[in-house]
Amino acid sequence: MRLQGPWQSIVKRCMSDASLVKMSAMYPPEIDLEGIDEWPNVLLKMQRAKDADPDEDYCHHLVTRKCPDISPRFLFGITIAGVRISFMEWLDNCASMYDLRKEKSPMLNNGMATAIQSCIKDMWLKAGVLHCDMHLNNVLVSRDTKKVYIIDYGMAMQIDDAMRDDLIQALENKRMRPANAFDKFCKDHALKVILRRGYNIDDMDDWNDDASFLRLLASTYCRRRTK
Ligand SMILES: Nc1ncnc2c1ncn2[C@@H]1O[C@H](COP(=O)(O)OP(=O)(O)O)[C@@H](O)[C@H]1O
Ligand SMILES: [Mg+2]
Repeated sequence: MRLQGPWQSIVKRCMSDASLVKMSAMYPPEIDLEGIDEWPNVLLKMQRAKDADPDEDYCHHLVTRKCPDISPRFLFGITIAGVRISFMEWLDNCASMYDLRKEKSPMLNNGMATAIQSCIKDMWLKAGVLHCDMHLNNVLVSRDTKKVYIIDYGMAMQIDDAMRDDLIQALENKRMRPANAFDKFCKDHALKVILRRGYNIDDMDDWNDDASFLRLLASTYCRRRTK
């Protein structure tokens, strides 16, 4: 839901007047509203609280703190009457990669694939977050600036410092391909977390992990010209 009109005052009221609504699980406890006056609108992502993974807001918040340019900036999440509401920056005039592919848009090119790869590396190395649901609908592209944004942290998870150090070593010192580094250091961990969350292993054939998406990008949008 896109909240238009005097949304800043509604957001501030929600935050400050907790007695108005029966709300819980406010995250993060400290909310930084700096700069939001410049946002055109705000997006309220609503889900049944029992279906929302608690890590979604946490991981999105980490990304906003550590690499704010790669995703819509996250404000806060609250649970009201069994509904999880995550407040975030509304990205104006964006298309998903899926829409762009349907339109056969020339925006889908090598440059975009490189930009997305760089966002994914920042998400891993700066925020310590694996996305684990990377597909064409979870990447938005601004039709105005051509900037790319990763959205939807619904299956995301954190990695610990040791795993992050392994990734940094592999990517920066050993110049390993990001997809291979993900498979080597993160894939088993990601699969374990996802199974622990109750996803059915038999439905995991088309699991959109970060490495598969990077390979899709490379094979589809970064083909070397033969002539
Ligand atoms: N911050 C945003 N600004 C603009 N549109 C968004 C934003 N976040 C999501 N959307 C739109 O809403 C759709 C669903 O959002 P998403 O977070 O992926 O939800 P779901 O968990 O249902 O897949 C996206 O594919 C995109 O078109
Ligand atoms: Mg999605």
